[in-house]
Amino acid sequence: MIKFDQKNSIFYLTTKNTSYIMGVLNDTVLTHLHWGGKIAHIDSIETVITDAKRGMCAASKRLDLGYCEDVIPLEYSPYGTTDLREPSLVLRYADKSAVGDFRYAGYEIVEGKPALCGLPSTYCEAGDSVSTLIIKLEDKLNGINLYLSYSVFDEYDAITRSVRLENVSDAPVEIDRIFSANIDMRCLDFEIITLEGAWCRDRFVHKNSLLNGNVSISSMRGVSGHNRNPFFALADKNTTETQGEAYGVSFVYSGNFEGGVQKDAFNSNRVYIGINSTDFSEVLNAGESFTAPEVVLAYSDEGLSGMSRIYHKLYRERLCRGIFRDKERDVLINNWEGTYFNFDDEKIVNIAKVAKEMNLDLLVLDDGWFGVRDHDRCSLGDWVVNLNKLKGGLDGLAKSINDLGLRFGLWFEPEMISEDSDLFRAHPDWRMPSGKVTPSPSRWQYILDLSRKEVQDYVIESVCAVLASANIEYVKWDFNRNMAEIPYGGTYKYIVGLYRVMEEITSRNPNVLFESCASGGGRFDPGMLHYMPQVWTSDCSDALERLSIQYGTSMCYPYSTMGAHISAVPNHQTRRTTPFGFRADVAMVGQFGFELDTTKMTEEELQLSRDAVAKYKKLREIFHTGDLYRLKSPFEGNTVALEFLSQDKNKCVVCYYVERCHCNDACELIKLHGLDANGVYRVEDTDKVYGGDFLMKYGLDFDPNMDYKSEIVVLIKE
Ligand code: DGJ
Repeated sequence: MIKFDQKNSIFYLTTKNTSYIMGVLNDTVLTHLHWGGKIAHIDSIETVITDAKRGMCAASKRLDLGYCEDVIPLEYSPYGTTDLREPSLVLRYADKSAVGDFRYAGYEIVEGKPALCGLPSTYCEAGDSVSTLIIKLEDKLNGINLYLSYSVFDEYDAITRSVRLENVSDAPVEIDRIFSANIDMRCLDFEIITLEGAWCRDRFVHKNSLLNGNVSISSMRGVSGHNRNPFFALADKNTTETQGEAYGVSFVYSGNFEGGVQKDAFNSNRVYIGINSTDFSEVLNAGESFTAPEVVLAYSDEGLSGMSRIYHKLYRERLCRGIFRDKERDVLINNWEGTYFNFDDEKIVNIAKVAKEMNLDLLVLDDGWFGVRDHDRCSLGDWVVNLNKLKGGLDGLAKSINDLGLRFGLWFEPEMISEDSDLFRAHPDWRMPSGKVTPSPSRWQYILDLSRKEVQDYVIESVCAVLASANIEYVKWDFNRNMAEIPYGGTYKYIVGLYRVMEEITSRNPNVLFESCASGGGRFDPGMLHYMPQVWTSDCSDALERLSIQYGTSMCYPYSTMGAHISAVPNHQTRRTTPFGFRADVAMVGQFGFELDTTKMTEEELQLSRDAVAKYKKLREIFHTGDLYRLKSPFEGNTVALEFLSQDKNKCVVCYYVERCHCNDACELIKLHGLDANGVYRVEDTDKVYGGDFLMKYGLDFDPNMDYKSEIVVLIKE
């Protein structure tokens, strides 16, 4: 997996289908040679770096070759050299200089993958074929060591990167920027695919050509955000969902990030991602070290779906943790859209009684159970049950729900504080920022300063105390505003504090399933998934919108991580009315549930619900562990098709959806992928059979002549 060709000073990192290759030029400068399809051998670094001398570029003092660092592909590029592109690292030394002189200083290969201290990351388990290369760059001028780590997940076909900085001088140094990856990729005519949107319009797929200059994505919201996800893909213009080369870059971090591509005058693409440097500043004292979050790289020559499949498997199996990672999860009823703040225990128990008749497993009590919270202007921080609403307390309610044969789950928003709360009255300085700046409210609420240990401890103890007070087996962990007016450098410190809080609470409560949420998908990122294996995908529960939201999300994240519920019609966000079957078929590919007042459902709807739950329970394994092929995109037409294929190719499920039909439209042939070409597949419970080759080369016919139509076809190999 990791090989060093000493003679030519070339590192080869190899996974099942990928090569990542670097060379040490003149024993000094670490260059990037290749990321993509497998290459067994490169004769010499010069075979790749042919274009190293240019007018108007300074020849590097680190290279006796007359080469310009400004035009050669570099593996990491600290500020202060003759490379004048986007720097990966900006440090300010005690003498005010920012000029570094990092030179290659050796490497180490370790079996497995060391943990990233205090940060979320992918991991390996005993028996996994994973090893890690750590390359050391040394700046003797300033007494700084830089360690670039590459973990090679052979079977998972992925490479992860991270960066550690060590101050071995006797003076402090200020870190103004530390990106987690830099890859200089040469001469490809790329498009960049990003996931963008807004609240309730999370992660729509956008494709843009690269420009000369910078194309970038970022968040300054204190969360990874609804507007842009910390993920992008690069793909050749001819790459489709199922063919061609695609390169994915995914950042395992939940706060402010920046990433993008800088295309230079010689068609080199500098690809980078890391913590957003606009408001980042950390002081590294003598003897201290700093680790930047992880980046996960996935390359596929089987199109964008091929790239997604790499992320899906890795994130499902080696990013998510805990007992729920491999478990089929409960089908839940959440009362939020059913009651909002207007409920008491009798109402909730009645909702649960009907939920039991629908064969659901878990009732989740959403916002409004604590303090005096009958609206969203108060009580955040006071995690004490409201006995006017829940007369038997949480314990009494949990028991009533359990007696009905359902599990009980609870909503929290632990990172927030309302001005009208006992917590604020006791600790006004725990609100962020404290001091002379009065922060602006958003949804009438403020953020607790999780960079402070005593505030972290309060959150840990108060949430754990509630969890210990009743039989609570699920938590929805919400976060309903962006950060603003934060002291410089504060958002990073906050996120590290949050990670400590989540690590502590989730490890103290291993039998509780945690689902994260930030006004829906405002923090749908790999960092959160490391602590909580599923996310409430969006505050928009409209099935038509969810088709796009879930499709976009699946670029990087598996359907097993997406909370997806049937809600009432007309939908509360769009006022749209869609048929029950459509709502069910859209939601059931994710972690399925209901988000409505069950007591208001008709007999017919109850029967449809039971049918949907039974169908989901039959299909969820393949939706959540099968290989995904996206066959028709909601961003490119009025129909959507998804194929889920079991690992052994014996079962294939095709989900076909029509948004709005065009009148008298032709039938649509959808070609399937990945099947056994020689196999015979039967449509379940029918006598219709097809050859695998027929399904892949000719296709399966679907009739798009109805609004909000959905069809789920199950094919079983005979
Ligand atoms: C935002 C969430 O996304 C909703 O599902 C709900 O939990 C509300 N917050 C409650 O305030």
